[in-house]
Amino acid sequence: MKTQQHSEHGEAGDVAAGHVRIFDTTLRDGEQTPGFSMDRRAKLRMAQMLEALGVDVLEAGFPQASPDDFAAVAQIAGMLTQTTACALARCVPGDIDSAGRALESARRSRIHVFLSTSPLHREHKLNMSRQQVLDAAVAAVERAMQLAHEVEFSAEDAMRTEPEFLVEVFDAAAAAGATTLNAPDTVGYMTPPEIAERFAYLIANVKRGRHVVFSSHCHNDLGLGVANSLAAVSAGARQVECTINGIGERAGNAALEEIVMAMKVRGAWFGTDTRIDTRKLYPASRLLSELTGQNVQRNKAIVGANAFAHESGIHQHGMLKHRGTYEIMRPQDVGIAETKLVLGKHSGRAALRQRLQALGHAPDEAAMDDIFARFKSLADRKREIHDEDLEALALGQDPDA
Ligand code: KIV
Ligand code: ZN
Repeated sequence: MKTQQHSEHGEAGDVAAGHVRIFDTTLRDGEQTPGFSMDRRAKLRMAQMLEALGVDVLEAGFPQASPDDFAAVAQIAGMLTQTTACALARCVPGDIDSAGRALESARRSRIHVFLSTSPLHREHKLNMSRQQVLDAAVAAVERAMQLAHEVEFSAEDAMRTEPEFLVEVFDAAAAAGATTLNAPDTVGYMTPPEIAERFAYLIANVKRGRHVVFSSHCHNDLGLGVANSLAAVSAGARQVECTINGIGERAGNAALEEIVMAMKVRGAWFGTDTRIDTRKLYPASRLLSELTGQNVQRNKAIVGANAFAHESGIHQHGMLKHRGTYEIMRPQDVGIAETKLVLGKHSGRAALRQRLQALGHAPDEAAMDDIFARFKSLADRKREIHDEDLEALALGQDPDA
């Protein structure tokens, strides 16, 4: 059996007093979706970036899924120096043994065993009774305990499971040695008030509720993945499972960068924080896009091209006077070089003058009247105005020529 380090992982003391652990599943739940698969080299690069970002746990893959998944998990496990390396396994011996082997060289290892608990899944997917589910969960946790430093148990489709039965399963998994209990919203069905209520109920009723780490894992089918994760945190969850850019099954998993920044910006409200180096959020997002060839939408919170861009004259005028008027965080805090005042048809004179000055032009008021009029007519024709267009306008030339 691997050595347990309880103090670091919440066995001793009240877990709710601690920080929120970020469990990144970009390379497992994220990667197993159409359009986002990565080869081994890409996974290694992403894993390096995630460790630099400061994620607490990195779910590197599902070793039993394929020989290549096994090899990627093994290589990542051997490479991580600070982050806990995690591998997924169903509650069957073959999966658990594979996960254990893949994690052998990890400085700190976690096997993540999962089993569906909801009536729908018990009847239609597993064809198992409640007692069979309980027995399989306990046997899996006990087996995984022999092969890794720590074990996480996930009750798949937890949010559509009878709450009392979920408590029973979690009690049994914790008694068998699991130190993290994950209650996924597998199909993204919950709303924030409901999920907060469910986590509060679980923490209050599971016997070791104050000494294990409760974890949320929210999918985004109703666009509520991040809101639900934060609601779980507000009710006492101290691990959040999430992915860079919110990639994942169907509509995705909760987006790591949004959860982290919500907790940073509204830290006083949450009363807790993560240990993420937020200045690496944008580089991590860019790297994932580069490795998968999938861009994030322009208006994506935190990392989208427009997240720190302002076009309207009223907003630009406000920003030039005080950046707090229209920005609640600094772009540098997420690793973006600077705020962009984008010049377009909604922009005003103040932003145009500022950009012209930055380009070395200092038109007087009369010249400015002329440049501004020609700028507006150009902006009606072009979606984006570039510095070359401004140079031409300032020099009295035709930007279209
Ligand atoms: O969504 C889910 O339930 C999962 C489990 C394997 C944790 O991804
Ligand atoms: Zn999932």
